[in-house]
Amino acid sequence: MKLRPDWILPDLNEARKRSNSPVPRFDQFVIPEEAKWMGQNKTYYISTYGCQANERDSETLAGILDSLGFTKSESPEHVDVILINTCAIRQNATEKVLGEIGNFKRLYRENEDLVIGVCGCMSQEEGFVENLLSKYPQVRLIFGTHNIQDLPTMLYEVMHEHKRVVKIYSKEGEVYENLPVHRFGKTKAWVNIMYGCDKFCTYCIVPYTRGKQRSRQMHEILNEVQELKQQGYKEITLLGQNVNAYGKDIDPNLNFADLLEACAKTGIPRIRFTTSHPWDFSDDMIDVIARYDNVMPFVHLPLQSGDSEILRRMGRRYTRESYLELFYKIKDRIPNVSISTDIIVGFPNESDEQFENTISLVEECKFDNCYTFIFSARPGTPASIMDDPIDMDTKSKRLARLNKIWNQYALEKNRAYEGRVVTVLVDGFSKKDNHVYSGYTDTNKLVNFTGHNIEPGTFVQVRITKGKTFSLDGEAI
Ligand code: 5AD
Ligand code: SF4
Repeated sequence: MKLRPDWILPDLNEARKRSNSPVPRFDQFVIPEEAKWMGQNKTYYISTYGCQANERDSETLAGILDSLGFTKSESPEHVDVILINTCAIRQNATEKVLGEIGNFKRLYRENEDLVIGVCGCMSQEEGFVENLLSKYPQVRLIFGTHNIQDLPTMLYEVMHEHKRVVKIYSKEGEVYENLPVHRFGKTKAWVNIMYGCDKFCTYCIVPYTRGKQRSRQMHEILNEVQELKQQGYKEITLLGQNVNAYGKDIDPNLNFADLLEACAKTGIPRIRFTTSHPWDFSDDMIDVIARYDNVMPFVHLPLQSGDSEILRRMGRRYTRESYLELFYKIKDRIPNVSISTDIIVGFPNESDEQFENTISLVEECKFDNCYTFIFSARPGTPASIMDDPIDMDTKSKRLARLNKIWNQYALEKNRAYEGRVVTVLVDGFSKKDNHVYSGYTDTNKLVNFTGHNIEPGTFVQVRITKGKTFSLDGEAI
């Protein structure tokens, strides 16, 4: 495959660097003259993988496409543009994406004008982009996480100049305010408070794919929250790779507790946030969560491992003991709080004993929910070149054992809800049964419940009849 001089390819060495130079901020989004109306009578489909940051980026992509006159489609059949917004966190995400791109080949054969674009975290990875360029000719547009605002120009070059466009900046981009947004939900909304991450946990690809930490200005965030409230949104989730570090990159006086409190004072009914790192979770944050009824009593507190030596090698900057101390502080100070976590098993050279430390911590904490993963070596990260004699069979067995244990505790926790009346924010009909509604409690428990003529976006009192491992059953009262 011949590289073209106008292609900008990802560069891991560049992505690894951090500079102190201030991040440019723009509050104007300008559509180039030639790109205006290019989407008239045309449709698009977006496929999104991964975390909430990607979901939110897809809403921006959709907003930009809408502003060019395109119409959103819920199916990839017969559309003019397909964008695949990818995730790079683990290897199996790569495989799923390549499978989907392979499936879209049929659509490209039927319509050679179809634009298939790939963006998101995987397009920041050198090997992935090389693979796409050499083996997937149906992909005519590849752009990175720092190039979203250039979509109109890139799309114009693909559609009208018939170029294959590759534009992936490795250095973190600017902070753009006021990019158009097409929110996919009518009740719940995502609000970015910061981009990127500077923690560099040794297993994690995010600091490379999303660049250095860039916080948004507090007044911009609060304006967005106010606007969402006026539009009738009932719940917002403040998003960042590590929300506890909010503001530190722009003003030493800024902090997440103040932001959370200011958001609470807007009066929007429900506020959540994700993700918080146990390392810099402040007492002030705990106080704000405890003090404001509209800050939900739910904390996602990724553990990763219950063994201090593994945590050290992960670069997590806390120990088993300090995690437990924080865990109990949160439990003690926030009544009725629920706590979920992320755990990686099979980190390079994790011994049986070290894994047992994770099990014993899970047995002690009895998390409400756990997201568990087998370590996946991400090219370019320090952990990917650590010696790892532990075979996959052992890792799979550890994962199965861990899952069995946390499932038991989750069931136990959910059974304790039986007979209680909880407030549920209604999402709509349950995915499985359209006589049953579904929604979430303040503690982030999924509730499926029976009732009559209930509108999505309303708050309902529900009596819990059954607690299951992953959800609660109930009836509206
Ligand atoms: N392998 C396995 N799991 C990972 N995570 C992040 N990077 C990796 C990796 N290389 C998990 C962590 C993180 C969650 C979002 O994904 O548990 O908290
Ligand atoms: Fe990855 Fe660690 Fe940053 Fe989370 S805090 S995104 S795990 S580097």
